[in-house]
Amino acid sequence: MATIGIFDSGSGGLSVYRELVKVLPKERYVYFADNAHCPYGEKSLDYIRDRARAVTDILIGMGADIIVVACNTATAAAIATLREEYPEMPFVGMEPAVKPAALGTKTGVIGVLATAGTLKGSKYLNTRGQYQDDVKIVEHVGQGFVELVESGKLDGEEVEKAVEASLRPLLDEGADNIVLGCTHYPFLRPVIERIAGPGVKVIDPAPAVARQTERVLKEIGISSGEGPFSIQLYFSGEPESLQRIFDLL
Ligand code: DGL
Repeated sequence: MATIGIFDSGSGGLSVYRELVKVLPKERYVYFADNAHCPYGEKSLDYIRDRARAVTDILIGMGADIIVVACNTATAAAIATLREEYPEMPFVGMEPAVKPAALGTKTGVIGVLATAGTLKGSKYLNTRGQYQDDVKIVEHVGQGFVELVESGKLDGEEVEKAVEASLRPLLDEGADNIVLGCTHYPFLRPVIERIAGPGVKVIDPAPAVARQTERVLKEIGISSGEGPFSIQLYFSGEPESLQRIFDLL
C-alpha cells in the first residue's frame, strides 16, 4: 500500500482524488487543503512556492510516498521548484488538457478556463505555443468560481451568473471544446455543461492525472494494490467546505 499525498489550495483537489480512487482504490490517501491561504490564483509565485514547500513538508511528515499537486496554479508556480528541492519525492502535477481539446475540436477553436496564475505560467504558455498554429485558443479566468466552490455553492442563480460571465466569451468565439484548467471547476461542471449546450465538450484532465499517478507508482514499485484503503483530510483553515464537498463524493 502506498501513501498518496494530495494538496490543493482548498477543496478543488478532491476532483482529482475522486479520479485517483477509481484507478487506485486500495491505497492510503492524505489530503491537505490549504484553505487558510485560498485562493492561490491571484498570489505571487514566491507566495505559492512557500506554501507548496510548507504543505510538502506536512505531507512528507505524514508518510507520503508520492505527492499529487492537485492544483493547476500550484503546479504552474511550484512543481519545478519542488522537484529540485525534494529530489527523492515523486511529484505528479496537473496538465492543462489542451492536447485532447485541440485534437477534438471541429470548429478549430478551443476554450480554456483557469486561474490567472495558471494562464500566465510558463507551463501553460509552452503547451499553448505547441498548438496555437493549429487551433485558435481562447482563455478566460473562471471569475469567482473558486470562491463559489469553497462556499459550497455548486448550483443556483449566483453560480449560473458567474459561469455565464466567464464561459460566454469563449462560446461566442466558437469554442466547441472547453478545458477545465483549475481543479475547483469540475464541481461546477453540470452548470458549465448546461450553459455550453450539447455541442460543446467539457474536458477535465483529472482522469489522465490519475492514470499518470498509477504509472509512476508502478515505476517506483511501492503499490501492492492490496490495501487497506483509507483517507485522511487535513486543512489549514475552516473544515466546513472541505467536508461538504467530500460528503458529496
Ligand atoms: N484549484 C486550484 C487550481 O487548480 C487553485 C484555485 C485557487 O486557489 O485559485 O488552480
